[in-house]
Parts: sequence; C-alpha cells; structure tokens
Amino acid sequence: MPAVSRIDSLIAAMTLAEKLGQLTMTASSFTVTGPVIAGDSTESIRSGALGNLLNMVGPEPVRQMQRLAVEDSRLKIPLLIGLDIIHGHRSLFPVPLAEAGLFDPATWEATAREAAIEGAADGLAMTFAPMCDVSRDPRWGRTVEGPGEDSYVASRMAAAKVRGFQGTDLAAPDALAAVAKHFVAYGPVTAGREYASVDVSERTLHEVHLPAFAAAVAAGAAAVMPAFTDLAGVPLTAHVPLLRDWLRGRLGFDGVIISDYNAIRELINHGVAADLVQAAALALDAGVDIDMMGDAYRQGLPEALQRGLVSMDQVDAAVRRVLLLKERLGLFDHPYGRCGTVEAPEALARRRQLARSAGARATLLLRNEHEVLPLAAPRRLALLGPLADAPGEMRGPWWAAGVAENHVSVLAGFRAALPGAQVLHAAGVGIEDAATEDAATEGTAAAGIAAAVALVEQADAVVLCLGEGAAMSGEAASRAHPVLPGRQLQLAQEVLARARGLERPAAVVLFCGRPLVIPELVELADALLVAWFPGCEAGNAVADVVLGRVGPAGRTPISWPRAVGQIPIFHGQRNSGRPENPRDHFTSKYLDVPNTPLFPFGHGLTYGRLRLSNLRLHGTVLRPGDTLEVSVDAVNEGGRAAEETVFLFTHDPVAGVARPLLELKGFAKISLAAGQRGTVRLPLRAADLAYLGPDLRPVLESGTVEVLVGPCADRSQLLAGSVEVAA
Ligand code: GLC
Repeated sequence: MPAVSRIDSLIAAMTLAEKLGQLTMTASSFTVTGPVIAGDSTESIRSGALGNLLNMVGPEPVRQMQRLAVEDSRLKIPLLIGLDIIHGHRSLFPVPLAEAGLFDPATWEATAREAAIEGAADGLAMTFAPMCDVSRDPRWGRTVEGPGEDSYVASRMAAAKVRGFQGTDLAAPDALAAVAKHFVAYGPVTAGREYASVDVSERTLHEVHLPAFAAAVAAGAAAVMPAFTDLAGVPLTAHVPLLRDWLRGRLGFDGVIISDYNAIRELINHGVAADLVQAAALALDAGVDIDMMGDAYRQGLPEALQRGLVSMDQVDAAVRRVLLLKERLGLFDHPYGRCGTVEAPEALARRRQLARSAGARATLLLRNEHEVLPLAAPRRLALLGPLADAPGEMRGPWWAAGVAENHVSVLAGFRAALPGAQVLHAAGVGIEDAATEDAATEGTAAAGIAAAVALVEQADAVVLCLGEGAAMSGEAASRAHPVLPGRQLQLAQEVLARARGLERPAAVVLFCGRPLVIPELVELADALLVAWFPGCEAGNAVADVVLGRVGPAGRTPISWPRAVGQIPIFHGQRNSGRPENPRDHFTSKYLDVPNTPLFPFGHGLTYGRLRLSNLRLHGTVLRPGDTLEVSVDAVNEGGRAAEETVFLFTHDPVAGVARPLLELKGFAKISLAAGQRGTVRLPLRAADLAYLGPDLRPVLESGTVEVLVGPCADRSQLLAGSVEVAA
C-alpha cells in the first residue's frame, strides 16, 4: 500500500488520544517533574496512548513492546524506539571529540555505521546523534560529545555521521534514524555553565552554529532535536524563526523534530509559558513533532485545541511526519525487522579492531621531547595513576549499552602487549581525591603517592595515566576549573621527578573529555599523550601507541587554553582594531598571559617529522564557479612512518565585514614512510571564499585573499600564498 494513503487513512481513523500518543516519547516507568508519566508503558502502548519509546535495549524487550503496538492496539501502528548511541552502542568507539581529531570523514562514517548495526540489532530504530554543537569553551561538559571549535569540521562530521547511522536505506534492518542535535548554538552557554542562557550574534549563529545542521539535513538526517537552551531569551523548543522558518522553510527540512528530554514542559521554567497548555501550544506551533518525556502534548494539547491556541491541522501535520518516518524506517512492514539480527562473532571482532585502530590513531601527541615515545619494550613497566586500571572510565560519559566489563583497561592492554614483561601498577591517588585537613587522610594520600614513586625505582620505564573520570564531562558536567582533578598534579610532580632523577623514560597519558588547563603538567612531562576516552579497546589502543605499533595521528579539534581566563579561545578570531603588539601597551592582550593557546587548533605530533614546502596555487584567479587546486609538497624527515593532517585556511584581509584571521576551508591526510615524499592536494572553490555580508546574505567580492596551508592554526607554521578573486 502506498505510504501516503496508508497514513492518510490512519490519520482519518485516529482519535485525538491516538494522535497525541504518536507525538509522545517516553520510557517505561520513568518519572519527570511530576507524576509518573509512563508508569507501566504496556497499557499506554496497548491503548494507543503512547507511540514512541526511548532508553530501551534488547531484541526481546523491544519485541514484547512492539507486539503490544502492532498486534494488540486498535490501529497497529509500530513503535519508534530510540537511544543515545553517540559513539558506539555495545562496542564503544572513541568519544566524538577524539574522533573529530582524526579529520577523517571515512572513519567518522565507518564507526557510525558499526554503531548503527549494533544498535539496530538490539531493536533500536533511532539514535539521538550526531551531536553537532560547536564548542569553544572547555568549561562546558558537552564539548566531549561534539566536533570541537570549528564550523567546517562540524559540518563535515555531521554529514559523515548521518551517512553512517542511516546507511543507504533507512528501511534496512541495520539502519538507524539520525537525529541532528542540539539545534542550535548550545555550545556557547553563558560562562560554560550547562543549560545556561545563550546569546550570540545573528552572524555567529549563521557563520558558526547553523552550518553543521544544514550539512546534516543535506545528508538526509531523519530528525532534528532542539537544544534545551534559549537563544537571546527564546527557547529553541519554541523558536518559530529557527525551527519553522529557517529549518523547515529555508532548508526545506520535512523530517521529524523531536524535543529534548522534558524540554517542552521546561518552557514554563524558561518563563515563556504560564502552564503546560501554553507550553504545548508554543512547541507545536514552532514545529516540534515529538514530546520526549514531558507529557506536555498529551496533557496540554486537548485544551490548547479547545482554546484555539493550535489547530487540528497542526496536530495532523506532526502526526503525519512521525508516521512517515516510521514508514521510511520500514516499521509498518517489518516491525520486528530490527529484532532478529544475530551477528557473527567475526563481525564483533572486526568492530573491536576498528575501535582499537580508531582509538590509537585518534590519540593526540601534545609533546615528545627527546623522542621519549615510542617506548622501547621495557622488561619492567611502572604503570601508574588513577586511570591506569579503570575500564569503566574509558567509555566517556555517553556509554549507552557499553558495559564496563567489555572495556580494556590500560593495565590489561599493556599486560597483553608485553607478555614477557613485568607490568607493575599503583594508582597513587584517586581521580578526584582533594586535599583535606584530616591528617589520617593526608597520610593515606602521601602513602599512595610514595607507593607509586617506589615502583618507578623498580621499573625501566614509566607510564602515568591521569585525567578526568568519565562522568566529569558530558551532560550536566560543566567545570569552572577544568584542570587536573584532585591531587593528580602532585602525583605527577613526584613520579616524574623520580623518573627524571633515575633517567627512566616516562610518558603521561591523559584521559579527558575536554582540553584541560595544564600548563604545569606540560612543563613536567617530556612526553604527553591525550587519549581522550578511547572506548572499548582503550588499553590496547594506548599500548599500541606508547610502544610504537601504531603512530598517533590525532590533531586537536579544539584549542587548549593556557588559563581559564582566555576562554573562549579559538583559531577563528578577528584582528580587532588594536591587534596585539608587545611594543604598544594599548593593544589587545592580557597583562599576565600570552594571547596564544597552550596548543592551537590542529596541533598534534606524530612519530614522523613532516616538512611542507613549495605551496602552489594552480590558477591564481578565482571566478564564480571556479575551483582552484592548492598543492604542497610533503616529506617525512623523521625515522618512523606517520599519518599526517594538512589544513587549508584562508584569510580575507579586506572585506565588507571583518573576517577571522584564519578560516578553515579544507583538510587532507597523507601517510608517509620515513624519508618518503608526497604531494597534498586540496580544492578551493570560489564559493568557499564567499562570506555573509552585513545583511547576512552570501557575498563574493573581488580582491586578494590569503591562502595558508600547514599542520595547525599557528601562522608561524603555515605556508602562505594568495589568490585573486574576480567576482
Ligand atoms: C538528554 C540530552 C540529549 C539526549 C536526550 C535523551 O538530556 O540533552 O542529548 O539525546 O536527553 O537521552
């Protein structure tokens, strides 16, 4: 039966309660501020009063719930069931911020595809991902879930993740509907404080935050989730100009808009709705189709209809979009299609190998003085620190169905990698042990550190695993002091001093969900790796890199501040009228900290040594519709093979609107053996040089534009040329 007539006939037959059931998503026996809105979902599903579920996992429970809908209910409409599969389902991959640092769309897509296969095999049909939020504030915990500071990277990653999750056929039993979130500009919450109000300019909204959602929609994202936050006082959940006019009107998005968790009800807290009736009306009027966990539509829309705040046409339009999505997912024709997949063991092994490879490659080598790394295989390794034997922490904050038991700790990884060696372990301190006034506690802490230092004396080499616990980033995990937690810096000082005294090679491996403010640690550590949260194969991936079996290829997708006071700090800043000039007091700088970050966007060392030369701009005049090939020669002057990333930036020195000093327009990878030469080629289209004029409409102006190519957003490391734009 053609989808539209089936859906038309269903809508014509549905009662209001059944319609509102299709606009409601909840989880069984969850409660939110107020009465248990779902309680025992079975009766709600059977009666048609609930049409969508979240946070349910497993083919059997899903099959049971689906049976209630498609066999017991009056209209037999299948359930849509979703889960936060952010960076893997049961087999977790590195957190998105780590993956962003690969600058590798093929891997971004591949891990999403594998996550979808696992999630769909567990009966799920929707993932609340990709998270597309650009973040330039490490205080904000959700930085870990996103693409970092750059809008171009966010756009490329959003599109790759949508392709991966959805595959080529949304009705396939291994496809998940992707939900691009959190629409829009959630990252710049005030002072990095979670859920706080956001106030950015129209220009920043359009130049920095909207492009990733345009890319996700262009890639076919099935759904979009508005952010919890308000934008200049208008909550995104009720934002008519952005949801109805820009997303649906300008972009032509005809998919489903699903609220964030309880967000419709929270319009009351925002202060834009007097009660649930008004909250429900505002959200529906803005175009929100599914009410996740707020029970606002079921409780509020009947009266909103009676009072004429919304129309039945608006309700029917929302129901239609939800039913069309279920149709596109194949749920009507194959409601159990995602419950029957049993994967072969080889598939799981392959997936874990991908996780191991991605985890190793995404590792970010911040420092490697005297080429401490890779370590020669030691006979006795002191593996120290609170993150060394912490498999659960390796998951990061969004672990979905990724249980700690199937995560390889760093200790397990090194013991597997060094079967003939002694791997000695001591945590030294807890992750968050804070200094106290209590003598006994202080004594215990001192003893813990001393025990770790003692192992240094017995070992040939030291690996010190420091950082955040998994729950210290992610949602509701903003940190005003994004530093090494607890006494970890003290542990590092004593362990690294002892290692230096004994001339033992020592490397620090940092696990974190954000750039930490670590100037002291950087001074202490000759070798400093950031593993972020690598996922299920963490220990193997870290051991592969430390022992040189895989080269680190991560580049930081977000600037590392020297001080919290620099935040927000990012590479796309404007020059200002008084750019920094050390010889002129009255210029843009701090009295106490340099303007530059500790590590700039794109920074990351490898085990090779990349030298770029001979920047060539083939055809230096760009006319509308032209594409220019920018090429540069590369040679690996190091002693080991390396996977390198090369960035293409532009800068328009004179334009109708002051332009950022660096704008990322492309990136490319090149793998080179020791001594090998190659050429990196990057396309630059005339359209890439357009910018939003004073009226926020795209404009391409004639004039000279700088083209800069290099390893990171540090002008001193970039080869510079220019093109003439003939608009
Ligand atoms: C959470 C998050 C959102 C997630 C949703 C469902 O609060 O904001 O990203 O998809 O609720 O878990």
